[in-house]
Amino acid sequence: MVYQATTSAPVNIACIKYWGKRDTKLILPTNSSLSVTLDQDHLRSTTTSRADPEFSKDRLWLNGNEEEIKPGSRMHTCITEMKTLRKKTVEDNDSSAPKLSTYHVHISSFNNFPTAAGLASSASGFAALVFSLAALYQLPVSLKDLSLIARQGSGSACRSLFGGYVAWEQGSAANGLDSYAVQVAPESHWPEIHALICVVNDAKKGTSSTAGMQRTVETSALLQHRIKEVVPQRMENISKAIHEKDFDSFARITMADSNQFHAVALDTSPPIFYMNDVSRAIIAIVEEYNRVSMAATGHLRAAYTFDAGPNAVIYAPESSIKEIVQLILRFFPQQFKDPFGLFREEDMAGKVPEGF
Ligand code: DP6
Repeated sequence: MVYQATTSAPVNIACIKYWGKRDTKLILPTNSSLSVTLDQDHLRSTTTSRADPEFSKDRLWLNGNEEEIKPGSRMHTCITEMKTLRKKTVEDNDSSAPKLSTYHVHISSFNNFPTAAGLASSASGFAALVFSLAALYQLPVSLKDLSLIARQGSGSACRSLFGGYVAWEQGSAANGLDSYAVQVAPESHWPEIHALICVVNDAKKGTSSTAGMQRTVETSALLQHRIKEVVPQRMENISKAIHEKDFDSFARITMADSNQFHAVALDTSPPIFYMNDVSRAIIAIVEEYNRVSMAATGHLRAAYTFDAGPNAVIYAPESSIKEIVQLILRFFPQQFKDPFGLFREEDMAGKVPEGF
């Protein structure tokens, strides 16, 4: 008997950035963060997990290529935590339940977008992994419980378990049990907000988030100001803006937080540069678009944000998206194509890696 489950999880893009850990093993952050989860149809990871008493070890394939699961690695931690949860919540309570926690698993995951290009692949990847193991193991647990485990795969992954507008509460407990994601509002609360992703460069990024943020924690004085004086108020204000559907405040806070995140990256020694000239040109275009809109209507119409790479995400009400795309294409003419290939679950068929 082979047990198998396939699930997918979307990417999330932070408006208030997570940058810095107070515990690198448990992945506990130095500040709370807030993001928007993109809809399932676009950027996502799709993961199939199988358990079989015949398997001789846990194995993992990413985009068809087998990767080693190193003891003590984040992947290893997540799989172990999920097996423990299966044992505790299912097998210990029902002696007739199959002892899946004792079987090895094979896991195969695909992204429908460039991996590690600053497009939050670790977030959707670990969220999809935890989801698929939860489905495989039929776990009677909450999304909050799963977010505690996804967090240990990659901090931002805990936010991808929820749709819509999602906060990751930093918590204060040393064991991390109060550091999890909560939904601030579902997507249906404010569906007018769209995200336009401008892929400036889809190559793998220079300094990984993990390494970069640790260097920032060790060397940046500005980070201390950010986590103590700035983020707590922003978390409150942006949650209020989301509840009130106040795009002006949402946009101001999102842009300010992206800029402060890149300022702390620059305040790191040696400094980290994630944005490039094209990124900065996109900032100039959005700022100018907002200036014109402010003069005409008294409102902002777009908000840029950049993660640990040069790609821009522009949040805007649906009514401005077409205009923004035209504007971007005027400054960066190109053949407009869907760069992501957008494969769906059914495309998993025929993509079974050898040995899986
Ligand atoms: C800039 O979640 O990738 O995207 O916890 O070390 O895996 P690890 O880091 P990761 O960092 C994301 C950083 C960010 C901001 C954010 O998503 O909040």
